[in-house]
Amino acid sequence: MSGPNSDYDPVEVTPLKPEEVEAARDAALAAIGAATDLEGLKRVRIEHTGDRSPLALANREIGALPPQARKEAGQRIGQARGAVNKALAERQAVLEVEHEERMLVEETVDVTLPTDRVAAGARHPITTGSERIADVFLAMGWEVAEGPVIEAEWLNFDALNLGADHPARTMQDTFWTEPQDQGIVLRTHTSPVQARTMLTRTPPIYVVCPGRVFRTDEYDATHSPMFHQVEGLVVDEGITMAHLKGTLDHFAESMFGEGITTRFRPSYFPFTEPSAEVDLVCFVCRGAAGVVESCRTCRGEGWIEWGGCGMVNPRVLRACGVDPERFTGFAFGMGIDRTLMFRHAIEDLRGFFEGDVRFTTAFGTEI
Ligand code: DAH
Repeated sequence: MSGPNSDYDPVEVTPLKPEEVEAARDAALAAIGAATDLEGLKRVRIEHTGDRSPLALANREIGALPPQARKEAGQRIGQARGAVNKALAERQAVLEVEHEERMLVEETVDVTLPTDRVAAGARHPITTGSERIADVFLAMGWEVAEGPVIEAEWLNFDALNLGADHPARTMQDTFWTEPQDQGIVLRTHTSPVQARTMLTRTPPIYVVCPGRVFRTDEYDATHSPMFHQVEGLVVDEGITMAHLKGTLDHFAESMFGEGITTRFRPSYFPFTEPSAEVDLVCFVCRGAAGVVESCRTCRGEGWIEWGGCGMVNPRVLRACGVDPERFTGFAFGMGIDRTLMFRHAIEDLRGFFEGDVRFTTAFGTEI
């Protein structure tokens, strides 16, 4: 039923009694004072000022009072509600400040704590070094060629004019696969990629071939049964040793800086004729008078051995289907590990292969 009955006596209505209004106000003020956080205060607000709270109910009944009683009751209830709302607002302000202060403490981040973040990996220095080397040649318009590490004996040796009685074919240097008479080896150098390239392409050929090679070497500071080489091969009309020298000087300067050029010493390789050993100007003393004598890097030589090179032997060209009457070529081979050891002053080759990040992170996160 809505609306008052005609015989309804508001004075008798419990919530309107002054002591009940006071009690409701005091209960509300006590609850507000006892609220310890904003959530609790929200519940108090609903309970003591919401639609179903005693003060709200009392307020609704004012309208039903006779006019003379309305004013007094309105004042009393209004004052009670005002006191409650004021107390609520004050408590709200206090609890908000407390909340913020607590958050600042609870959510404090100690930026000095060590983290358990897993370090991002970096590419291996041999990988980035090989790419750096390849880039020197790509910039001159060369291409990168690759071959398998498990190689046919014929390509590793015969095609390169390494006769059956050549010392490199003895068990000492070469890893053979079983049974040995099937003629499959772990390549002992990157030179078989030369043969593969000439057999599958027609000149002009300008390729650089970085990759892994294997020899039955002891594992020590300067030797490893697995290491890396980079091979270069050019076959074109009119290629001379001057092109070879200019190319290697450019390669050396790109890797070691201006002024670090090369010299050739006569040598022998079955797959090149003539052949030469390539030396670098010592990048520590730079061959300078007065410094060379005491230089530990080149041991007073002023030069450092870098690799081998020469003009591709016509017998190799012929074995790989290239006409030596029309084309000439040059080739070279260097150790990548050795090159990087020079470049970064690394004294122990094993650092490259042992997976210790204290060694590899020194190269940074080159990508
Ligand atoms: N293959 C030779 C080695 O492993 C290095 C080499 C020398 C490569 C002379 C060449 C070259 O292409 O012309 O010791």
